[in-house]
Amino acid sequence: MSTGVPSKKKSKDKIPVFLTYQGKQEEADIVNNSYLSFDKSICVNGNGENLFFFGDNFDALLYMINNGYKEKVNLIYIDPPFATSSTFVNRKQEKAYSDSLCGGEYVEFLRKRLILLYQLLSNDGSIYLHLDNKMAFTMKIIMDEIFGEENCRAFITRKKCSTKNYTKNTYGNVSDYIMFYTKSSKYTWNRPYDPWELDKMIEQYPCVDGKGRRYKKVPVHAPGVRNGETGKEWRGKLPPTGKHWQYTPEKLDELDEAGEIYWSPTGNPRRMVFCDPSKGIPVQDIWLNYRDSVNQAQKTTGYPTEKNYEMLKLIVNASSNPGDIVLDCFAGSGTTLGAAFESGRKWIGVDNSPQSLDAILNRFTNRMEVYGDYVSPVQESFVQCSFDGFDEKCQFDIWCTTHSQQTANDIFNKLKG
Ligand SMILES: C[S@@+](CC[C@H](N)C(=O)[O-])C[C@H]1O[C@@H](n2cnc3c(N)ncnc32)[C@H](O)[C@@H]1O
Repeated sequence: MSTGVPSKKKSKDKIPVFLTYQGKQEEADIVNNSYLSFDKSICVNGNGENLFFFGDNFDALLYMINNGYKEKVNLIYIDPPFATSSTFVNRKQEKAYSDSLCGGEYVEFLRKRLILLYQLLSNDGSIYLHLDNKMAFTMKIIMDEIFGEENCRAFITRKKCSTKNYTKNTYGNVSDYIMFYTKSSKYTWNRPYDPWELDKMIEQYPCVDGKGRRYKKVPVHAPGVRNGETGKEWRGKLPPTGKHWQYTPEKLDELDEAGEIYWSPTGNPRRMVFCDPSKGIPVQDIWLNYRDSVNQAQKTTGYPTEKNYEMLKLIVNASSNPGDIVLDCFAGSGTTLGAAFESGRKWIGVDNSPQSLDAILNRFTNRMEVYGDYVSPVQESFVQCSFDGFDEKCQFDIWCTTHSQQTANDIFNKLKG
């Protein structure tokens, strides 16, 4: 791997890139749109901290903007439909949602919601957008338009499933993508770590010092010529051609005195970077350990496209603090909401599918089931279960539009038995 010399060209000199398509609305028109109002009609013994909006997220986001949530949300994770032209059914073979938009229509649908989400996000907040190769690269341009290219913190590749035995003449498709943007350069960040595995530690920190500490050797110079202190001679040596010292000679002296400079037999200095086994390995932008639930023994809600719970816990813990508000406006089975609750965050979920509300109620009443080899069409335990556990597990309010109130009531009453 080689590192380029950073360019001095200022980002303001860049020609901005925009996506053009038919039907692209002005941002101001989107934010000033009319919307259906949500009445606080069904209360699951909530205390106003956790809210579920049952209805179209365009209405719900506008409602929130106009009802006290502007710049109040600390973290957003969304996993919208991926433009697959498919209908998704749950474990009971009931239709959960259809994913039918494509092309410019899809882009505008999602762009409108992202513009509203920008309004809701706090100044130190973060947003994660989960997509696959169909729309991720198009939507990256839209994310840059709304949140600013400079606020793109990572473009994560995730291994979503096990290796496939493809019959098609191409590579097995096992990846999807998560874009991580922030609203500004000052944002909440609790660096996540994976635990060390000995072979990885040996691979990455191959050397051992006299005290038994593992370390690796890294260059003390960086690309680019400098005329200041870092371009001068240190201990009788100039930096290699086209490079400069990473530190001033004074700082290099300090590092040497602290025993952090390795001198090769030919007299070349390198920096010794020590492994801190207590911390683990900082999580990188390729995620291999967060596949969605395919394991027959794993408990799930049975909602289609349910995402990996541990992955959501990682995101929630990295980009928010206890007490913060976490929002998922394509909530599905409520994976984000569950992870936020478990980590001591407040949550706001939105979805317009009755099956989603059903799955979320099941998630918070501990009625998730193992996938199993066979799917039972009638789940007796669903109607017989007592309703008592609800208040202990997670309290939340369900807010509905007048259109959706009856459906929400039916689902809620079904659960109560
Ligand atoms: C891919 S699923 C989300 C799955 C979720 N991340 C999970 O772990 O279960 C997308 C969700 O977006 C919801 N959805 C799609 N369009 C919507 C809209 N306009 N308003 C609200 N929800 C919508 C669907 O009902 C579906 O539940």
